[in-house]
Amino acid sequence: MELHARQIEVKAGGRSILAGVSVRLHAGQLCGVIGPSGAGKSTLIRVLLGLTAPAKGEVTLAGRPISEAGPVGYVPQDDALHGALKVRHALDFAAQLRLHGMPDVSRQARVRQVILQVGLDGREDVRIEKLSGGQRKRVSVAMELLSQPRLLILDEPTSGLDPGLEAKMMDLFSTVARDGRIVLVSTHAMQSIERCDQLMVLVRGALVYFGSPAGALSKWGVTDYNSIFTRLSA
Ligand SMILES: Nc1ncnc2c1ncn2[C@@H]1O[C@H](COP(=O)(O)OP(=O)(O)OP(=O)(O)O)[C@@H](O)[C@H]1O
Ligand SMILES: [Mg+2]
Repeated sequence: MELHARQIEVKAGGRSILAGVSVRLHAGQLCGVIGPSGAGKSTLIRVLLGLTAPAKGEVTLAGRPISEAGPVGYVPQDDALHGALKVRHALDFAAQLRLHGMPDVSRQARVRQVILQVGLDGREDVRIEKLSGGQRKRVSVAMELLSQPRLLILDEPTSGLDPGLEAKMMDLFSTVARDGRIVLVSTHAMQSIERCDQLMVLVRGALVYFGSPAGALSKWGVTDYNSIFTRLSA
């Protein structure tokens, strides 16, 4: 299974926000998207999910237009959760909506499964507003895993987390990808980028690099990922 974007172009306010972006992402792989603020990462993510229609180009998942490709998972840059709900209840509500018609026992088992998957066991009965930022992000990820989407995209899920937690979250995304999903994560956290199987570098709406993280170091002739940013702004 692959996600295939061909020659994507997006315009807004008379100006080009994305131009000529083509990528193929494969199941089982974690792909990172990096690029300066305003480069078009969130815009590309919304196009890949079928939420924004590009002016030109097309996106397919397993050969079908993304709009007809079934459930996809999306954790937006500014995700909203109901703070007053306990973790288990928030997930169960979401499951009732998303897995409409599933018997209670199966649904509860699924909720239990995603709680374990994101490492929130032991926190099920805590109100979301009492969770740390990282734990709250885990709830958002768990919500998206409920429907077992083939494609999961997270827009800067680790911003504001300490480097240790950031690395753990990237490990989680990698594990989710290994399950046979396509997982794409935009990030500004360079210290965990080598956990990605593929890396996309966007600059002013153009895809200037798509390949292994190590290959990006060679391309820019640097030894650490932070230096890529210095090179991009030079
Ligand atoms: N609805 C819109 N109308 C006009 N311009 C927009 C719109 N949405 C985004 N843009 C512009 O498109 C460009 C890319 O925005 P986008 O949010 O995709 O960047 P980003 O790489 O996600 O940035 P950040 O790292 O800050 O989240 C920016 O210059 C932004 O101002
Ligand atoms: Mg963004």
